[in-house]
This record gives sequence, structure tokens and C-alpha cells, in this order.
Amino acid sequence: MAKRKIFSTHPLFDEARIILDGECDVEYWAKPERPSRDEIANRIKDKDGIVCLLTDRINEDLLRAAPKLRIVANVAVGYDNLDLPACTKRNVIATNTPGVLDETTADFAWTLLMAVARRLVEGDSYARNGNWKGWNLDQMCGADVWGKTLGIVGFGRIGRAVARRAAGFKMHILYTATKRATVEIEKELGAEYRDLNALLAESDFVTLHVPLNSETRGLLDVPKFFRMKPTAFVINTARGPVIDEAALVHALEAGKIAGAGLDVFEQEPFIHPGLKRANVVMAPHMGSASVETRSKMAAMAAHNVAALFRGQRPPNMLNPEVFQTQ
Ligand code: GLV
Repeated sequence: MAKRKIFSTHPLFDEARIILDGECDVEYWAKPERPSRDEIANRIKDKDGIVCLLTDRINEDLLRAAPKLRIVANVAVGYDNLDLPACTKRNVIATNTPGVLDETTADFAWTLLMAVARRLVEGDSYARNGNWKGWNLDQMCGADVWGKTLGIVGFGRIGRAVARRAAGFKMHILYTATKRATVEIEKELGAEYRDLNALLAESDFVTLHVPLNSETRGLLDVPKFFRMKPTAFVINTARGPVIDEAALVHALEAGKIAGAGLDVFEQEPFIHPGLKRANVVMAPHMGSASVETRSKMAAMAAHNVAALFRGQRPPNMLNPEVFQTQ
């Protein structure tokens, strides 16, 4: 039987290419810029599958352009870029990459947290730009991290990986989640449940680890920032729209919070000009960006595609009901 045709919107990493090329006939997007929606529509017209990134919006229109498509393999754990009901309606399996990026993303939440609390980026440019004239007692004083209260919003795999790291900093750990963790997990991680409002009021650092959906869009808005301590920091490695960015800018300008560490933004790659302040540390959506983890994510997406066309269950299906009917 002829090999199945796949379009990958990125050249991917070797590990993934070996898996995909072994099973399928793959066309890789190789230009440095991301493919436009029209370009993707054009390339997937005759394809059986697509491997895509979180910047590719896969909606009903696009699916309509690809009548043979059987799988959309997203190289990301978050899948707010996919119209999942549209995939299901059209009998297209959608997959994501859970698990492999938890520790790397938790590391990065901590990177931002430490950097903003201890003013690392400010300190770096101060030293680098030759402004440093010598040690001084009140120079670059930031906020302590150790011993403070950490509020984790979303207590899935990544939120829990963040909590495990907090123990080394002797922090008081709070969490909130739609579903409360078991007593065993709370005990193991030393984490106490709070509702969101209580967590915001008590925490010195609030870190977000929820998916973007209709419940979490704009979760931190003006009233929520007003509940936080003026000395508190917010860290976002989840999705930009979980924070109402205009409300965050207002909170920073009004001194309602002390600072922010942001890896994700409401309209990436646009950065709200009001966020370009000394007490905001920002990064270009790189929470999972280690060579090891990004290769694993790509390989996982490739595995999902290869499995399907080998007649097996793709391991990371978001709409497994489609598999039964395909
Ligand atoms: C990254 O943001 C991901 O969802 O994997």
C-alpha cells in the first residue's frame, strides 16, 4: 500500500523525522517563517495527516480543505489552537504531547520566579552596561523567595512539578484546582487547597498552570489583581489569555502587585507596551524549550501519526471516540 501522506508545518528534530519518514511520505515546511493559513490549507489538500505547532490554528475551515485528513498531531500539550469539536465532527483524530514537558516547564516557571524576585535581568544589564561602580548595601535588593507562600493555580502534572521544587525553598505551598487533589498527594507535596480568591490573598508568588479554555480565559482580571498582596508576583508559563493583560498592566502601574514573570502573552508575539517595565521579566514562550524536551515532544507527535497508520491506537488522543469509528 502507498505510504500515507503527511504535512509537517515544521522540519522537526531528527528523532521525530526518523519515526515519521519510516512510516509515511512526509512533506516538511522548511522556511524560517511560519506557514500562513492559506499555505497550510494548500499543503494539506491531499494529505492524510498533519503535524502542527501551537501557532497553527486548525479550525473547521482548514479541515474542510483536507477531506482525506485523519489525524492532527499537535506538538504541544496545550491544544487551544485546535478546534477539537470540529476535528471530532469530521472524524479527525487530534493528539497532543502530555507528560514529556512537565519538568522542563516547571524549571522555567522557577526561572522566571527567581529572576523577577531577585531582579536578575535588571542586575544583568546593570553589570553588562558598565553602570556598576561597586558593591553597595541597598543595591538591587529584591524579594526573598525562600520561606514565602507559593500559590499554584492548576494542580496537574506541571503545577505539581512546580510544587515539588518549592520544598527546597522551604515555602508554604497553596494550590487551587477544579478538582481537589487526594489527601495523599497534598501530604506528599506539602500543599494546602484554597479557593482562588483565598490563594490570591495569601500568596507571595502566584504561578499559573491551567489550560486555556472558556473557564480560564481572563481568569486573572482587575478584581483578582486587587485581591493580591502589593508585594506579590505573578508568573505565567501557561497561556497568555489566562491573564487579562490590560488588567495586569493596570495592576503593575497602580502598584497593586510587585511584578510579573511572563513566558506567554495574550496576542503572541505582540507584547503589550505597558509590560516593558523593570519589574516584568519576559520570555518568548520558551517554557518547554530545552533541546531534550522539544525533541521528545516532536517524537511524541510523530509516534501518534505512525501508530495510527500502522493500525494502532495513537497513544495521546484527545478525542479517542473518533478512533473507534474511523
Ligand atoms: C507549550 O506551550 C505547550 O502547550 O506545549
